[in-house]
Amino acid sequence: MAADAREGLSRSPKELAPKYFYDERGSELFDRITALPEYYPTRCERAILNRHAPEIVEGMEELVELGSGTASKTRALLYAMAGVGSLRRYVPFDVDGSVVALCEEELTELYPGLVVHGVVGDFEHDLGKIPPGERRLFAFLGGTIGNFHEGERADFLTRIRALMGATDRLVLGADLVKDRGTLEAAYDDSEGVTAEFNRNVLRVLNDGLGADFDPESFDHVARWVAPCSRIEMLLRSVREQTVSIPGAELEVSFAEGEEMRTEISTKFTPARIEAELANAGLALERQLTDPDGLFAVSVAAPK
Ligand code: SAH
Ligand code: TRP
Repeated sequence: MAADAREGLSRSPKELAPKYFYDERGSELFDRITALPEYYPTRCERAILNRHAPEIVEGMEELVELGSGTASKTRALLYAMAGVGSLRRYVPFDVDGSVVALCEEELTELYPGLVVHGVVGDFEHDLGKIPPGERRLFAFLGGTIGNFHEGERADFLTRIRALMGATDRLVLGADLVKDRGTLEAAYDDSEGVTAEFNRNVLRVLNDGLGADFDPESFDHVARWVAPCSRIEMLLRSVREQTVSIPGAELEVSFAEGEEMRTEISTKFTPARIEAELANAGLALERQLTDPDGLFAVSVAAPK
């Protein structure tokens, strides 16, 4: 965390690594985001998964979920696998240990006999901790793929592909390009839950590095950047201020109105998803969208 803070905060413009949104409080706030009227991705993805679960899980015996969170939508896939008697193991992988523990507890209770093998880890360093197997469905849902930058995304997909054997599949949830109004509202809700989530990254730095960020002195900003086809989340300093971060041996100054980027959320066209999967050695088997064409769920197999 210290190294990431030093690196990101010495850039111009300043930037913070998004995985630090997710401590226990951050995961709770994210779960509240998924229930907001403005945040359509969860509703759309859930509708697609509920409707098409049997075909998505066909032939699969294990679910490996990357960035599982509280696995609220995954249950449709587990249910479909359990229904045909093919469910052997569930592997939730997340950087936040609190959600992994919760998944282990809840799903073991829901499906007696199911082996839940949680992995607490980071996409960047810990994918090797995923246990080997066959007929594994790798699930990467929630549009989290859009939170990577282009190069990281290609690298991530390639590393997932390298873990996969011929009998494994990938199910990928990705948000689609649409009008600015819908997109910006999804990342700036009227209740201010997303704003609290965005500021949570500052609380995490306060806890982890003894920093003295005053979260209330940063405004939440969500902006559609059309040329990059992405939403950018920023924190804007409401006044000139200096923050000290002892754990990173750092003092950082912010000008009034200075913006610091905390997250990107890239939006795709169905064709671009197919092309990026293909570049990583994955052949599209099916691509499913909700009736309004807001969100896409793609299933791909190793080429
Ligand atoms: N899959 C859930 C949660 C999506 S939010 C859904 O669709 O609703 C993104 C999830 O990815 C969070 O649970 C977060 O803790 C996890 N995550 C973010 N960055 C990560 C990283 N670098 N390594 C591992 N998990 C990460
Ligand atoms: N994976 C989610 C997305 O891109 C993450 C997310 C939703 C998010 N709302 C946010 C990240 C607000 C930062 C701030 O849709």
